[in-house]
Amino acid sequence: MVTAETIRRPLLDWYDANARDLPWRVRPQARALGVRADPYRVWLSEVMLQQTTVPHATPYFLKFLARWPTVTDLAAAPDAEVMAAWAGLGYYARARNLLACARAVASRHGGVFPETEDGLRALPGLGPYTAAAVGAIAFERPTNVVDGNVERVISRLFAVEQPLPAAKPELKRLAAALVREDRPGDWAQALMDLGATICRPKQPLCDLCPVAQHCAALATGAPETYPRRTAKAERPHRFGVAYVLTRGDQVALVRRPPSGLLGGMLALPTSEWRAERWTEDEALSAAPAEAAWRGVGEVEHGFTHFTLTLQLLRAEGEAADLIWSPRRDLDALPSVFLKAARAGLTNLL
Ligand code: ADE
Repeated sequence: MVTAETIRRPLLDWYDANARDLPWRVRPQARALGVRADPYRVWLSEVMLQQTTVPHATPYFLKFLARWPTVTDLAAAPDAEVMAAWAGLGYYARARNLLACARAVASRHGGVFPETEDGLRALPGLGPYTAAAVGAIAFERPTNVVDGNVERVISRLFAVEQPLPAAKPELKRLAAALVREDRPGDWAQALMDLGATICRPKQPLCDLCPVAQHCAALATGAPETYPRRTAKAERPHRFGVAYVLTRGDQVALVRRPPSGLLGGMLALPTSEWRAERWTEDEALSAAPAEAAWRGVGEVEHGFTHFTLTLQLLRAEGEAADLIWSPRRDLDALPSVFLKAARAGLTNLL
Protein backbone atom coordinates (compact mmCIF):
# COMPACT_ATOMS: atom_id res chain seq x y z
CA MET A 1 0.00 0.00 0.00
CA VAL A 2 1.22 3.52 -0.72
CA THR A 3 1.42 5.50 2.50
CA ALA A 4 2.63 9.05 2.99
CA GLU A 5 5.94 7.66 4.25
CA THR A 6 6.53 5.60 1.07
CA ILE A 7 6.50 8.85 -0.85
CA ARG A 8 8.08 11.18 1.69
CA ARG A 9 11.16 9.13 2.51
CA PRO A 10 12.56 8.70 -1.04
CA LEU A 11 11.62 12.26 -2.02
CA LEU A 12 13.33 13.81 1.02
CA ASP A 13 16.40 11.59 0.43
CA TRP A 14 16.45 12.73 -3.17
CA TYR A 15 16.20 16.36 -2.04
CA ASP A 16 19.10 15.87 0.39
CA ALA A 17 21.26 14.80 -2.54
CA ASN A 18 19.87 17.06 -5.28
CA ALA A 19 18.50 20.29 -3.78
CA ARG A 20 19.14 23.15 -6.18
CA ASP A 21 21.47 25.90 -5.00
CA LEU A 22 19.26 28.99 -4.90
CA PRO A 23 20.27 32.32 -3.39
CA TRP A 24 17.32 32.45 -0.97
CA ARG A 25 17.64 28.80 0.07
CA VAL A 26 19.25 27.17 3.09
CA ARG A 27 20.37 23.73 1.92
CA PRO A 28 19.01 20.67 3.72
CA GLN A 29 22.34 19.83 5.40
CA ALA A 30 22.53 23.31 6.91
CA ARG A 31 18.85 23.21 7.93
CA ALA A 32 19.51 19.91 9.69
CA LEU A 33 22.15 21.77 11.73
CA GLY A 34 19.57 24.37 12.71
CA VAL A 35 20.36 27.14 10.19
CA ARG A 36 17.14 28.99 9.39
CA ALA A 37 16.23 30.79 6.20
CA ASP A 38 15.85 34.58 6.33
CA PRO A 39 12.06 35.21 6.17
CA TYR A 40 12.62 38.36 4.11
CA ARG A 41 14.50 36.43 1.44
CA VAL A 42 11.99 33.61 1.45
CA TRP A 43 9.06 36.00 1.14
CA LEU A 44 10.71 38.12 -1.58
CA SER A 45 11.66 35.04 -3.62
CA GLU A 46 8.21 33.52 -3.32
CA VAL A 47 6.51 36.71 -4.51
CA MET A 48 8.88 36.89 -7.49
CA LEU A 49 8.53 33.19 -8.29
CA GLN A 50 4.77 33.46 -8.52
CA GLN A 51 5.45 35.72 -11.43
CA THR A 52 8.19 33.93 -13.31
CA THR A 53 10.78 31.14 -13.43
CA VAL A 54 13.84 30.68 -11.20
CA PRO A 55 16.35 31.76 -13.92
CA HIS A 56 14.38 34.93 -14.73
CA ALA A 57 13.67 35.83 -11.09
CA THR A 58 17.20 35.27 -9.75
CA PRO A 59 18.86 38.48 -11.04
CA TYR A 60 15.89 40.52 -9.78
CA PHE A 61 16.13 38.84 -6.40
CA LEU A 62 19.84 39.62 -6.14
CA LYS A 63 19.29 43.21 -7.25
CA PHE A 64 16.54 43.77 -4.66
CA LEU A 65 18.62 42.20 -1.92
CA ALA A 66 21.70 44.30 -2.72
CA ARG A 67 19.64 47.47 -2.79
CA TRP A 68 17.28 46.72 0.11
CA PRO A 69 19.00 44.16 2.35
CA THR A 70 16.18 44.00 4.94
CA VAL A 71 12.43 44.35 4.89
CA THR A 72 12.80 47.64 6.77
CA ASP A 73 15.02 48.98 3.99
CA LEU A 74 12.45 47.96 1.41
CA ALA A 75 9.66 49.53 3.44
CA ALA A 76 11.52 52.86 3.38
CA ALA A 77 12.07 52.84 -0.39
CA PRO A 78 10.15 55.30 -2.57
CA ASP A 79 7.34 53.64 -4.56
CA ALA A 80 8.74 54.71 -7.93
CA GLU A 81 12.15 53.13 -7.24
CA VAL A 82 10.63 49.80 -6.30
CA MET A 83 8.30 49.86 -9.30
CA ALA A 84 11.24 50.63 -11.60
CA ALA A 85 13.32 47.80 -10.07
CA TRP A 86 10.37 45.44 -10.59
CA ALA A 87 10.05 46.43 -14.29
CA GLY A 88 10.35 43.33 -16.45
CA LEU A 89 8.83 40.98 -13.87
CA GLY A 90 5.29 41.87 -14.94
CA TYR A 91 1.99 42.16 -13.08
CA TYR A 92 2.80 45.38 -11.29
CA ALA A 93 0.03 45.02 -8.72
CA ARG A 94 2.36 42.46 -7.12
CA ALA A 95 5.04 45.11 -6.66
CA ARG A 96 2.50 47.40 -4.98
CA ASN A 97 1.43 44.56 -2.70
CA LEU A 98 5.07 43.80 -1.98
CA LEU A 99 5.62 47.34 -0.75
CA ALA A 100 2.38 47.41 1.24
CA CYS A 101 3.43 44.18 2.93
CA ALA A 102 6.99 45.37 3.68
CA ARG A 103 5.60 48.56 5.20
CA ALA A 104 3.15 46.62 7.39
CA VAL A 105 5.95 44.33 8.62
CA ALA A 106 8.07 47.39 9.40
CA SER A 107 5.36 49.48 11.07
CA ARG A 108 3.19 46.85 12.79
CA HIS A 109 5.76 44.19 13.60
CA GLY A 110 8.99 46.12 14.10
CA GLY A 111 10.51 44.67 10.94
CA VAL A 112 10.04 41.05 12.04
CA PHE A 113 7.78 38.76 10.00
CA PRO A 114 5.02 36.98 11.95
CA GLU A 115 5.71 33.23 12.16
CA THR A 116 2.30 31.63 11.78
CA GLU A 117 0.33 31.10 8.61
CA ASP A 118 -2.54 33.18 10.07
CA GLY A 119 -0.20 35.97 11.14
CA LEU A 120 1.37 36.05 7.68
CA ARG A 121 -2.01 35.92 5.99
CA ALA A 122 -3.09 39.02 7.91
CA LEU A 123 -0.42 41.09 6.15
CA PRO A 124 -1.67 43.18 3.23
CA GLY A 125 -1.14 41.58 -0.19
CA LEU A 126 0.14 38.31 1.23
CA GLY A 127 -2.04 35.51 -0.17
CA PRO A 128 -2.63 31.91 0.96
CA TYR A 129 0.16 30.45 -1.18
CA THR A 130 2.79 32.89 0.08
CA ALA A 131 1.67 32.48 3.70
CA ALA A 132 2.00 28.70 3.40
CA ALA A 133 5.37 28.89 1.65
CA VAL A 134 6.92 31.40 4.09
CA GLY A 135 5.41 29.52 7.05
CA ALA A 136 7.03 26.27 5.94
CA ILE A 137 10.35 27.46 4.50
CA ALA A 138 11.19 30.25 6.96
CA PHE A 139 9.44 29.01 10.11
CA GLU A 140 9.15 25.21 9.78
CA ARG A 141 5.37 25.26 10.08
CA PRO A 142 3.68 22.17 8.61
CA THR A 143 1.68 24.09 6.01
CA ASN A 144 0.39 22.80 2.69
CA VAL A 145 2.36 24.61 -0.03
CA VAL A 146 0.71 24.06 -3.42
CA ASP A 147 1.80 25.96 -6.52
CA GLY A 148 1.52 24.94 -10.17
CA ASN A 149 4.56 22.66 -9.93
CA VAL A 150 3.18 20.87 -6.90
CA GLU A 151 -0.23 20.50 -8.57
CA ARG A 152 1.46 18.76 -11.47
CA VAL A 153 3.47 16.39 -9.25
CA ILE A 154 0.42 15.45 -7.17
CA SER A 155 -1.87 15.03 -10.18
CA ARG A 156 0.64 12.56 -11.62
CA LEU A 157 1.41 10.65 -8.44
CA PHE A 158 -2.30 9.94 -8.00
CA ALA A 159 -3.36 10.06 -11.69
CA VAL A 160 -6.10 12.56 -10.91
CA GLU A 161 -8.56 12.42 -13.81
CA GLN A 162 -10.55 15.51 -12.93
CA PRO A 163 -9.29 18.41 -15.06
CA LEU A 164 -7.83 21.66 -13.74
CA PRO A 165 -8.96 24.13 -12.54
CA ALA A 166 -11.86 22.12 -11.01
CA ALA A 167 -9.35 19.61 -9.56
CA LYS A 168 -7.60 22.20 -7.37
CA PRO A 169 -9.38 21.35 -4.10
CA GLU A 170 -8.78 17.62 -4.63
CA LEU A 171 -5.08 18.22 -5.41
CA LYS A 172 -4.77 20.34 -2.27
CA ARG A 173 -6.38 17.61 -0.20
CA LEU A 174 -4.02 14.96 -1.60
CA ALA A 175 -1.01 17.24 -1.04
CA ALA A 176 -2.10 17.99 2.56
CA ALA A 177 -2.15 14.27 3.36
CA LEU A 178 1.62 14.14 2.67
CA VAL A 179 2.59 16.99 5.04
CA ARG A 180 4.12 16.09 8.40
CA GLU A 181 5.61 18.00 11.33
CA ASP A 182 8.99 16.66 10.25
CA ARG A 183 10.98 18.94 7.87
CA PRO A 184 8.10 21.01 6.45
CA GLY A 185 10.42 23.52 4.74
CA ASP A 186 12.46 20.82 3.04
CA TRP A 187 9.31 18.94 2.09
CA ALA A 188 7.77 21.98 0.35
CA GLN A 189 10.99 22.67 -1.52
CA ALA A 190 11.55 19.00 -2.41
CA LEU A 191 8.16 18.95 -4.15
CA MET A 192 8.97 22.21 -5.94
CA ASP A 193 12.37 21.00 -7.09
CA LEU A 194 10.97 17.69 -8.26
CA GLY A 195 8.32 19.57 -10.27
CA ALA A 196 10.85 21.97 -11.77
CA THR A 197 13.62 19.55 -12.68
CA ILE A 198 12.14 16.01 -13.07
CA CYS A 199 8.37 16.08 -13.13
CA ARG A 200 8.48 18.70 -15.88
CA PRO A 201 5.36 19.72 -17.82
CA LYS A 202 6.60 18.14 -21.05
CA GLN A 203 9.00 15.21 -21.25
CA PRO A 204 9.22 14.38 -17.55
CA LEU A 205 12.46 12.56 -16.62
CA CYS A 206 10.75 9.60 -14.98
CA ASP A 207 13.95 7.49 -15.16
CA LEU A 208 15.48 9.84 -12.59
CA CYS A 209 12.40 10.20 -10.39
CA PRO A 210 12.76 8.98 -6.80
CA VAL A 211 9.04 8.15 -6.57
CA ALA A 212 8.51 6.70 -10.07
CA GLN A 213 7.53 3.32 -8.67
CA HIS A 214 4.63 4.91 -6.80
CA CYS A 215 3.48 7.12 -9.67
CA ALA A 216 0.02 6.22 -10.95
CA ALA A 217 0.39 8.46 -14.02
CA LEU A 218 3.60 6.70 -15.05
CA ALA A 219 1.78 3.40 -14.71
CA THR A 220 -0.73 4.59 -17.32
CA GLY A 221 2.15 5.00 -19.79
CA ALA A 222 1.44 8.68 -20.47
CA PRO A 223 2.50 10.69 -17.40
CA GLU A 224 2.94 13.89 -19.42
CA THR A 225 -0.83 13.98 -20.12
CA TYR A 226 -1.40 14.91 -16.46
CA PRO A 227 -2.66 17.20 -15.06
CA ARG A 228 -5.79 16.97 -17.20
CA ARG A 229 -7.08 20.33 -18.31
CA THR A 230 -10.33 21.61 -19.74
CA ALA A 231 -9.84 22.98 -23.26
CA LYS A 232 -8.73 26.58 -23.01
CA ALA A 233 -10.61 29.39 -24.66
CA GLU A 234 -8.23 31.12 -27.05
CA ARG A 235 -6.63 34.26 -25.67
CA PRO A 236 -8.26 37.32 -27.20
CA HIS A 237 -6.11 39.59 -29.34
CA ARG A 238 -5.94 43.35 -29.04
CA PHE A 239 -4.29 46.04 -31.10
CA GLY A 240 -2.87 49.41 -30.15
CA VAL A 241 -0.50 52.00 -31.58
CA ALA A 242 2.66 52.88 -29.64
CA TYR A 243 4.33 56.19 -30.41
CA VAL A 244 8.10 56.41 -30.25
CA LEU A 245 8.76 60.14 -30.15
CA THR A 246 12.41 61.15 -29.84
CA ARG A 247 14.22 64.41 -29.12
CA GLY A 248 17.90 63.70 -29.71
CA ASP A 249 18.88 61.02 -27.22
CA GLN A 250 15.58 61.23 -25.33
CA VAL A 251 12.35 59.31 -25.69
CA ALA A 252 8.92 60.62 -24.71
CA LEU A 253 7.13 58.62 -22.02
CA VAL A 254 3.92 58.86 -20.03
CA ARG A 255 2.95 57.54 -16.61
CA ARG A 256 -0.02 55.18 -16.79
CA PRO A 257 -3.05 55.76 -14.56
CA PRO A 258 -2.56 54.30 -11.05
CA SER A 259 -5.06 51.46 -11.38
CA GLY A 260 -5.52 48.89 -14.11
CA LEU A 261 -3.03 46.95 -16.18
CA LEU A 262 0.56 48.25 -15.71
CA GLY A 263 -0.91 50.82 -13.31
CA GLY A 264 1.44 53.62 -12.30
CA MET A 265 4.24 52.42 -14.58
CA LEU A 266 6.18 54.46 -17.08
CA ALA A 267 5.09 53.67 -20.63
CA LEU A 268 5.27 54.75 -24.24
CA PRO A 269 2.28 56.84 -25.23
CA THR A 270 -0.25 54.54 -26.93
CA SER A 271 -3.67 54.68 -28.48
CA GLU A 272 -6.45 52.77 -26.77
CA TRP A 273 -6.17 48.95 -27.13
CA ARG A 274 -9.03 47.36 -29.06
CA ALA A 275 -10.04 44.28 -31.03
CA GLU A 276 -9.31 45.71 -34.51
CA ARG A 277 -6.10 46.89 -36.09
CA TRP A 278 -5.59 50.62 -36.40
CA THR A 279 -5.58 52.22 -39.86
CA GLU A 280 -2.89 54.77 -40.60
CA ASP A 281 -5.37 57.67 -40.38
CA GLU A 282 -6.72 56.47 -37.05
CA ALA A 283 -3.20 55.98 -35.73
CA LEU A 284 -2.23 59.51 -36.74
CA SER A 285 -5.29 61.09 -35.17
CA ALA A 286 -4.59 59.36 -31.84
CA ALA A 287 -0.94 60.56 -31.80
CA PRO A 288 0.28 62.48 -28.72
CA ALA A 289 1.86 65.22 -30.89
CA GLU A 290 1.95 66.67 -34.37
CA ALA A 291 5.02 65.18 -36.06
CA ALA A 292 6.19 63.42 -39.22
CA TRP A 293 5.13 59.94 -38.02
CA ARG A 294 6.39 56.91 -39.94
CA GLY A 295 5.37 53.29 -39.52
CA VAL A 296 8.28 51.20 -38.16
CA GLY A 297 6.73 47.75 -37.81
CA GLU A 298 5.06 46.16 -34.84
CA VAL A 299 5.69 44.00 -31.77
CA GLU A 300 3.56 41.38 -30.06
CA HIS A 301 3.34 40.76 -26.33
CA GLY A 302 1.48 38.11 -24.36
CA PHE A 303 -0.33 39.21 -21.20
CA THR A 304 -2.12 36.70 -18.95
CA HIS A 305 -5.54 37.33 -20.45
CA PHE A 306 -4.85 38.62 -23.96
CA THR A 307 -2.22 39.09 -26.62
CA LEU A 308 -1.38 42.63 -27.65
CA THR A 309 0.01 43.79 -30.97
CA LEU A 310 1.49 47.26 -30.81
CA GLN A 311 1.77 48.95 -34.19
CA LEU A 312 4.76 51.29 -34.00
CA LEU A 313 4.99 54.87 -35.19
CA ARG A 314 8.21 56.81 -34.89
CA ALA A 315 8.99 60.52 -35.19
CA GLU A 316 11.46 63.13 -34.02
CA GLY A 317 9.71 66.08 -32.42
CA GLU A 318 8.46 68.06 -29.44
CA ALA A 319 5.47 67.61 -27.22
CA ALA A 320 4.15 69.13 -24.03
CA ASP A 321 3.02 67.00 -21.07
CA LEU A 322 5.31 64.07 -21.83
CA ILE A 323 8.17 62.73 -19.70
CA TRP A 324 11.47 62.88 -21.54
CA SER A 325 13.75 60.00 -20.64
CA PRO A 326 17.31 59.25 -21.84
CA ARG A 327 17.47 56.07 -23.90
CA ARG A 328 19.76 54.39 -21.40
CA ASP A 329 17.01 54.58 -18.74
CA LEU A 330 14.45 52.66 -20.79
CA ASP A 331 15.20 49.49 -18.79
CA ALA A 332 12.78 50.78 -16.16
CA LEU A 333 9.91 50.26 -18.63
CA PRO A 334 7.64 47.21 -18.37
CA SER A 335 8.67 44.53 -20.89
CA VAL A 336 5.96 45.31 -23.40
CA PHE A 337 7.08 48.95 -23.73
CA LEU A 338 10.78 48.13 -23.60
CA LYS A 339 10.23 45.72 -26.48
CA ALA A 340 8.24 48.34 -28.41
CA ALA A 341 10.76 51.13 -27.72
CA ARG A 342 13.71 48.97 -28.78
CA ALA A 343 11.98 47.92 -31.99
CA GLY A 344 10.78 51.46 -32.69
CA LEU A 345 14.27 52.89 -32.22
CA THR A 346 16.04 50.26 -34.35
CA ASN A 347 13.56 49.55 -37.13
CA LEU A 348 14.35 52.30 -39.61
CA LEU A 349 11.98 51.59 -42.42
N1 ADE B 1 9.27 27.96 -6.86
C1 ADE B 1 8.54 28.71 -6.03
N2 ADE B 1 9.11 28.78 -4.82
C2 ADE B 1 10.26 28.06 -4.89
C3 ADE B 1 11.28 27.74 -3.98
N3 ADE B 1 11.24 28.19 -2.74
N4 ADE B 1 12.26 26.95 -4.39
C4 ADE B 1 12.27 26.50 -5.64
N5 ADE B 1 11.36 26.76 -6.55
C5 ADE B 1 10.34 27.53 -6.19
